[in-house]
Order: sequence, then C-alpha cells, then structure tokens
Amino acid sequence: MLTSRHLLGIEGLSKQEITAILDLSETYVRQNRQPNKHSNALNGLTQVNMFFEASTRTQSSFEIAGKRLGADVMNMAMQASSITKGETLIDTAMTLNAMHPDLLVVRHPHSGAVALLAEKVNCAVLNAGDGQHEHPTQALLDALTIRRAKGRLHRLTIAICGDIAHSRVARSNMFLLGKMENRVRLIGPRTLMPAGVDQLGVEVTDNMVEGLKGVDVVMMLRLQKERMDGGFIPSTREYYHRWGLDAAKLANAKPDAIVMHPGPMNRGVEIDGVLADDINRSVIQEQVEMGVAVRMAVMDLLARGLRRQEKDVMV
Ligand code: NCD
Repeated sequence: MLTSRHLLGIEGLSKQEITAILDLSETYVRQNRQPNKHSNALNGLTQVNMFFEASTRTQSSFEIAGKRLGADVMNMAMQASSITKGETLIDTAMTLNAMHPDLLVVRHPHSGAVALLAEKVNCAVLNAGDGQHEHPTQALLDALTIRRAKGRLHRLTIAICGDIAHSRVARSNMFLLGKMENRVRLIGPRTLMPAGVDQLGVEVTDNMVEGLKGVDVVMMLRLQKERMDGGFIPSTREYYHRWGLDAAKLANAKPDAIVMHPGPMNRGVEIDGVLADDINRSVIQEQVEMGVAVRMAVMDLLARGLRRQEKDVMV
C-alpha cells in the first residue's frame, strides 16, 4: 500500500514503497508473458488518460496496463477537447471529475500542473510527466530494468548522459537512485546541466570518456529541443562527436555495463543506432516491457488505497 493517494513524483516515496512497487511489478512481468494477460485488480474502476503532450510509450503502456487489470480505460484526445476553446486545465479536470473516474493519468508541459490538478479532484492522480519536473513511472521502470539486469539496485554507479537540464526522467531517476544508495554521475555539456547541480549529491562532468569509467549503467537522454529556447549546443554533429554514445566510448564503462534510453531516441545524435540495437548491451526494449508491468503495479496499489478509503467512509 502507498502512503499517498496519488503518484506525483519519486521525491515523496520511501525506499520501502519503491521496493514494494518493484516487487509487485515482478508478478505483472510474469502475467504479461502469459497468453492470458488479464486479472482483476481494477475491475469496475474507470481510468482516464489525459495527455497534453506527445507520447508513444507512456500513453500506450498506461492504456494496456489498465485494460489488463480490468479497468474501463478512456483516452481523452486533448487536441480535440475544449482546451482548444480556451477551457482551463482545472475546468477540464473538474468536468471529468464529475463523471467519477477512479484513476486520472496526466501528462502536461508545465512543471507542477499535475500536482495542482490532484488538489482539485477526488480520484487518484498519476503523473505521467510534468514539464521538467518528474516522471515517476519512468524512473520506476528504469529501476526494475536495472534490478533485473544487475541483480540489485544499490551500490551501482550509474551515468545519466546528455540533456539533464530539461529532463524530468533524469530528475526522477536521480531521486530514486539516490534513495536506493547508488552513485550517480551526470555527463553532458555544462549548458545542459540544471541550476544548482552541485547541491544534488551527484558527480558532474562534461567529459564522456572520463565519466563513463567504471560505470555499471549508461542512461542516455534525448536533446529536449521543445524545452530549449535558443542554442544550447554548437551543432548536432559536434554534439554526437563529444557526447553521443558509440561502442568506442562505451568501452570505458565496465565490460558488462548496460545501455538504457527512455525513448524517443534520436539515432546518430545522442546514440549510435547499431549500439542501440545491440541486444548484448542495450536493454531499451526491456525498459518498454517493464513499463507496462510497473504501471500495472502502481495502479493496483493506488486502487487498493482507494478501496480502503471507501471502506473507511462506509463504517
Ligand atoms: C520521456 C519523456 O516524455 O519525458 N519519454 C518517455 O516518457 N519515455 C523522455 C523524452 O521525451 O525525451
């Protein structure tokens, strides 16, 4: 069971809660590999997905996760909604709230927008990525992938590389990996490091060769151009040359280091296409598989919380 009614970020989760989510996810990894993928943790519940930003993996995996657990799942087509007629986020949420959803999965371009919305509705809210702030289910699926590949989730050295400043994936991963007592090293151009990076309790370098030495995990990130106003890098060719991951740079990491990427990937910009497809090093497809299982586990746990609350109200 989770302490909070919502999942808004990794920052508010305890080490025990993270472990509980990952342990339950393992059950769903097994279920998802069976011909019959259905169970009933969300029977009778309504899940609404509201994505105000583009998404392939996150939206589809939340939808599949909900359906496999027996929920009624509705995807709001935000481009076709009244948001385009000037309705505010809160008014849209209140309208949906009146239809009694149980789980609201929200992605929004503004940091903090999902937390604001959670204050206004009665259901459980899941943050599917808010601006540059957090993307909790991504960090959880990354953690599950690492734990399965390395056999543990502590005392590992993990490099997070590229556009850290604009990445909610990096932020959520820093929280999670830090809580689980790992060493995190941020590698990328100084212009793409977040403000106050020295206070984050992580190592920072702009040199890929130095930074990758001895790491167990290499996590690559996309240049989030939609969040950049102006030039942060000289050119994509220069960027690939210095910070793009290829086999030669990876040779500095531990021989069994794994390569991760949350997607969407820009081949030839932050990662070499051949390396991304190398099943001996890259766990990018496993990350996608783990994404469905982790989202099932999180929604199952939040639904248990909702049912407990309901019981408390009835007695
Ligand atoms: C990420 C996101 O949206 O934050 N993608 C994802 O959810 N898998 C990373 C990105 O957009 O680069």
